[in-house]
Amino acid sequence: MRVLAIESSCDESAAAVLDGTRGLLAHELYSQVALHRVYGGVVPELASRDHVRKLLPLVRRALAAAGSGPGDLSGVAYTAGPGLIGATLTGAALARSLAYAWGLPAVGVHHLEGHLLAPLLEPDPPPFPHVALLVSGGHTQLIEVHGIGQYRILGDTRDDAAGEAFDKTAKLLGLPYPGGPELARIAADGTEGVFHFPRPMLDRPGLEFSFSGLKTAVLHALRGRELDERLRADVACAVQAAIVETLTVKAARALEQTGFNALVVSGGVSANLTLRAQIASAAARHGARVYYPRIEFCTDNAAMIAMAGLHRLRAGERQGLGIAARAQWPVESLAPLGAAGARHVNGWDGD
Ligand code: KG4
Ligand code: ZN
Repeated sequence: MRVLAIESSCDESAAAVLDGTRGLLAHELYSQVALHRVYGGVVPELASRDHVRKLLPLVRRALAAAGSGPGDLSGVAYTAGPGLIGATLTGAALARSLAYAWGLPAVGVHHLEGHLLAPLLEPDPPPFPHVALLVSGGHTQLIEVHGIGQYRILGDTRDDAAGEAFDKTAKLLGLPYPGGPELARIAADGTEGVFHFPRPMLDRPGLEFSFSGLKTAVLHALRGRELDERLRADVACAVQAAIVETLTVKAARALEQTGFNALVVSGGVSANLTLRAQIASAAARHGARVYYPRIEFCTDNAAMIAMAGLHRLRAGERQGLGIAARAQWPVESLAPLGAAGARHVNGWDGD
């Protein structure tokens, strides 16, 4: 089985071809970062328009790189949500139309299921069940993963996501969008302990997160000071330390609570090297192994959508002729693999 996948839920346009036996044959990505940078964040309408321009050439390139034509494909997968609705619709409409034109089945993939299954693209995939720490720009969740489509949320954020906390505090430091990687880069030059920011909800039992207080704490720290390189680096270092420690302690707590010995860390923030190092030592103390996607598949990409789509198509899931796209879509509402029936996929009947 060979699948073409399209991702367009935010500011990355991507296409990939995944083969069930030969693995990942091609993946192409175009990042809109430069387009949105002048505005300090993603402008949804600009994102949609740029996806319209970029997706089809990316699909052509991915198919050429995979040495595949439509006749070699068994289906088309696409991100159907959650995401910016206009952006998601562009990829959904393209993917659904290509599948129709080529006489192939289509399947709408949950973006977060894509992130959760991204480590399955690696040579040493995680076993089930495992705990997943999903840390992206829009989500911060600890999830008990019993199998594909079998997700139980153990903890969620009450306000900002971890990636959002990185991005918002980076903005206060005058760093360009997207702030997460920029903040992580300058944090390396900061001195630990110059600032100490709160680790909300760490002193309480449970697996909930809250990151919105960090912005205020950073604003207070910056008040009345001149924002020079030294200050920027020290604050960045303290912000990263607060986010990383919070995520690490809660992930370790989730391992303890479930008794599982495998931890998946995925989503954009899992590209953070300090987080990776601290999670690795915490997991080792719990006798658990950590599984990540490779760095380029931590942030949005179509390879992970292809992986989720391949599994769902293989299990016989098919979507109707409707174009499925949702801004909101809880991951725990997904059906276990193959349980959704031949036409009705995860609540959609499409046509
Ligand atoms: O998964 P993703 O590409 O998009 C969403 O689905 O949200 O995640 C993007 C998020 C952004 O908030 C970005 O700042 C953050 O991941 N991010 C990082 C790093 N790389 C990306 N945050 C901290 N350190 C990084 N190295
Ligand atoms: Zn994402």
